[in-house]
Amino acid sequence: MDAKTDQNTPQDTGMTYAEYLSLDKILSAQTQLSDTHDEMLFLIIHQTAELWMKQILHEVTLAQSFIQADTPGAAHKPLSRVSRIQTIMTLAWDVLSTMTPTDYLTFRDQLGTSSGFQSFQFRELEYRLGLKNPKYLAPHAGDVRAHLETVLAAPSVYDETLMAMRRAGFDIPEAVASRDWAEPYTPSEAIEAVWLEVYRHPEKHWEYYQLGEKLMDLEDAFITWRFKHLTTVERIIGHKMGTGGSAGVGYLQGTLSKRCFPELWSIRTQL
Ligand code: HEM
Repeated sequence: MDAKTDQNTPQDTGMTYAEYLSLDKILSAQTQLSDTHDEMLFLIIHQTAELWMKQILHEVTLAQSFIQADTPGAAHKPLSRVSRIQTIMTLAWDVLSTMTPTDYLTFRDQLGTSSGFQSFQFRELEYRLGLKNPKYLAPHAGDVRAHLETVLAAPSVYDETLMAMRRAGFDIPEAVASRDWAEPYTPSEAIEAVWLEVYRHPEKHWEYYQLGEKLMDLEDAFITWRFKHLTTVERIIGHKMGTGGSAGVGYLQGTLSKRCFPELWSIRTQL
């Protein structure tokens, strides 16, 4: 056997496909509360969304570490991957919308007060991207809450970006770099001016210009996901209250105006 064949021949380690993927755990985790047909789809749509959120957090962590290390160009790749995952997550609403209100009503009562409000990965993602609102800690307790509190008190991807830009010589005020990370971010003209400089001279600031666009891709897709959640919810439950106790569609409509990277949006008008 020559060296080339050797390299291409897999070694039998005894590991199987099912073992590697822990399929026994994953495929036995669809615990239905009812014997209705559509509950399986409801479970699987939520579980896959949680798995994708896990992967997104994994990518955002990597991107953030590159930004911290003053290599913003290296953050482009993980952020591009996030956008592609978001495309899949948004498409998933089309699958869920094959579930009619009548189908959903066959098992909705069984859900009690459980709700997407309790998705700790979703809240971690919001905090990591810069939407710092402590009121969303309320549904969480124990280790999960402690973890979310740590994330809330740490700089977001956007905070890290602005600090890296400061180290790179951009005119970022000291107050922005030393703010209380747990507080909601306040947009400012000073940061707008910095991004305007980047967008007016992309060739001079290529890595930050590209980073700005990757962050825009992410936020644009996030808003699209929120919008499809809203329309899917409206076609399934109309204007009923949510299982988490909110006004339902009315509450979700309010979340559409949230912005993680406000100056990246506002400079568009001025360019
Ligand atoms: C029949 C399908 C669905 C309905 C009727 C529905 C309804 C709602 C409603 C009414 C809320 C507002 C909070 C509340 O009062 O409960 C909400 C929040 C939420 N839902 Fe859904 N949802 C559905 C599917 C999904 C799926 C598949 C996901 C995927 C993970 C999801 C994730 C979330 C998240 C993360 C929130 C919190 C949003 C925020 O605070 O911005 N939902 N949902």
